[in-house]
Amino acid sequence: MVSRVIPVDPFDLVIFGGSGDLAKSKILPGLFRRFVSGQMPRNAKIIGAARSDFDEVQYRALIKAAICSFGQVEASHSDLAPFLELLSYVQIDARGDGGWQVLKTKMRSDIARAFYFSVEPSLFGDIAERLRQHRIALDDSRIVVEKPFGRDLISAKELNKTLAAHFGEEQIYRIDHYLGKETVQNLMAVRFANMLFEPLWNSQYIDHIQITVAEKVGVEGRGEYYDKSGAMRDMVQNHLMQLLCLIAMEPPSQFDPDAVRDEKLKVIRALDQVESDDIVRGQYGPAGDAPGYCDHVDNLTSHTESYIALKAHVQNWRWAGTPFYLRTGKRLKQRLSEIAVVFKDPPHSIFGTEAGANGNTLVIRLQPDEGITMDMTIKEPGPGGMRLINVPLDMTFAEALGPAVDNVPDAYERLVMDVIRGNQTLFMRGDEVEAAWKWTDPIIEGWESRGDVPKPYDSYSAGPEDSLMLLQRDNRKWRRL
Ligand code: BG6
Repeated sequence: MVSRVIPVDPFDLVIFGGSGDLAKSKILPGLFRRFVSGQMPRNAKIIGAARSDFDEVQYRALIKAAICSFGQVEASHSDLAPFLELLSYVQIDARGDGGWQVLKTKMRSDIARAFYFSVEPSLFGDIAERLRQHRIALDDSRIVVEKPFGRDLISAKELNKTLAAHFGEEQIYRIDHYLGKETVQNLMAVRFANMLFEPLWNSQYIDHIQITVAEKVGVEGRGEYYDKSGAMRDMVQNHLMQLLCLIAMEPPSQFDPDAVRDEKLKVIRALDQVESDDIVRGQYGPAGDAPGYCDHVDNLTSHTESYIALKAHVQNWRWAGTPFYLRTGKRLKQRLSEIAVVFKDPPHSIFGTEAGANGNTLVIRLQPDEGITMDMTIKEPGPGGMRLINVPLDMTFAEALGPAVDNVPDAYERLVMDVIRGNQTLFMRGDEVEAAWKWTDPIIEGWESRGDVPKPYDSYSAGPEDSLMLLQRDNRKWRRL
């Protein structure tokens, strides 16, 4: 099967924070890959804008080094020189006047303009205001903002209000990079392009759903940000919430930005408040000589969680009675992100309980080795009577689709191309973000007011013991990490 790369129209993209970590590790290596694939036109323009004083030559050298190291590209790659030609740099004062006129002169007319705010949220308002004041951003320009989008409902509303003072909602692209992952989109295809699952996709047939985003890395190097956020704000309010929405939402009438986002919003609004016994918070300890969480964040009395497990209920006709178990954590046994849809056992086993395995689980694996498998019960081959085993029916597309898979864009690549195309389907709308905070806030306030201390867990383990109990007491168990 041949991969179809549909080139986007020429564009001018300004990256505020153009010399920062995200620009170097994700945005520019991603754009380079799209350039190599032929999706990004050879007359696109990328303008880095930041506080530092670089000239064009220095900036290009910085980005070249970043693409080689983060994008694992040979310095001799023949596309590097033409790609770097598209890059320029403006030293800008986000809160003052410096640089804005220079930036304006670099923009071309009659070409899509996009502005990536890869900066801390406290600068969003200043940049948005100056872009408009200097008429650099026009009525059809797009802005891209990164998480964290607020740290609670009040601050998220404030940010939405600030951006709305300068840009229409149809111009604002709030990135949740999980929505750009290939398998996350495949999940929508599997659900809504096949007849097979939809009749069973409800509490009558689905026992429970597990969403796991486990990471092996700790928070080293990001302590200052992370210790003020914790796993709830950093992962659950956004990435895990988005995964839950895609699993639980009703079929939208079409694959169109507002139709999809309306359905996701309904799911968030249908979430029950989580009881305090239905949440486990954890914090990783040291491992041998390797420091634990408190050392990583340089705060020996930190009560911030690096792990969360919780049980959520979507209170609507489809899902009443089917719990959603969510867990995410740092410094766990392995890096694994997956959604497991665990179907109920057949109402009666004609083979008797001693025959063995029963039940189906649909596993949507985001990373590593992305793919989709369905555990089916079959007869164990060979003699020995009717013994049953579970085997995975493998829908991993690497085998079926061959070389096309090698060219699958990563989340950032896809999302930036969607910005240029003007497609907001995979971006969060302001009301979605606010609804997610509205659900998250009381949970955080609850443990803050009770003075909850996270449970310690061993680095590189499966998380705190108590998280096992969360499922055991419901006669269920987590899938193995
Ligand atoms: C980010 C979080 O949004 O997602 C990080 O801030 C986390 O803490 C990262 O490590 C995980 O993303 P991925 O794509 O590596 O699973």
